[in-house]
Amino acid sequence: MAPTLSPMIVAIDGPAASGKSTVARLLGERLGVPLLNTGAMYRAVGLACLDAGLDLEDAAACEARANSLDLDVTSVGVVTVEGQPVAVEREEAGSAASRVAVHPGVRARLVALQQEFGRRYGCVAEGRDTTTVVFPDADVLVFLAASPRIRAERRARQEGAPERAEEYAREIASRDERDASRAVAPLRPAPGALRLSSDEATPEQLVERIAQAVEEACP
Ligand code: C5P
Repeated sequence: MAPTLSPMIVAIDGPAASGKSTVARLLGERLGVPLLNTGAMYRAVGLACLDAGLDLEDAAACEARANSLDLDVTSVGVVTVEGQPVAVEREEAGSAASRVAVHPGVRARLVALQQEFGRRYGCVAEGRDTTTVVFPDADVLVFLAASPRIRAERRARQEGAPERAEEYAREIASRDERDASRAVAPLRPAPGALRLSSDEATPEQLVERIAQAVEEACP
């Protein structure tokens, strides 16, 4: 394949708690390109809608808010609103994000920003639909999976509640079902994606494998 002159883009997709955030961060550091955390952008919009007192089910109101919001991503991948970094870890951000993420106009605004970022800086883009919708022509596409049991154990450890692994396993299984069957940007591997599993491999081993694929795609 001919060397590409546009900045390098790697897109990583996969179910919740598959370890993709860690892998994406380490890979970005290794390749020297910024991490584009698309979930953080949905979280920022979700919080902005929440703070404005909007009904998160109201598509028109949330879309108008998303379109008028001074939202940006800095060259190092920090999501800002009105020039200030957003505290996207806030407890309510994740659920607000998933509620506003179903509105097509919200997705359209964020996808445009993500594509502009990739064109300008190159990136390791992480998140649902980055391989299928945002960067289907990325240099390397990765779908990182893991068994529900491993993901539940990981999530339980992250939450400091290892005794709740069973409960998380049930939650994860039903979220997988919902995510894979939803009408807007369902979770599924893109054609041609490198399919990896974090069940048996460490993040470092996965990064190594992806870096090898990048080397082959962009010699
Ligand atoms: O990845 P993270 O947990 O930060 O994403 C929060 C929510 O934003 C997800 O549960 C999903 O509903 C939504 N999202 C999305 N498309 C993306 C990234 C996140 O719909 N590319």
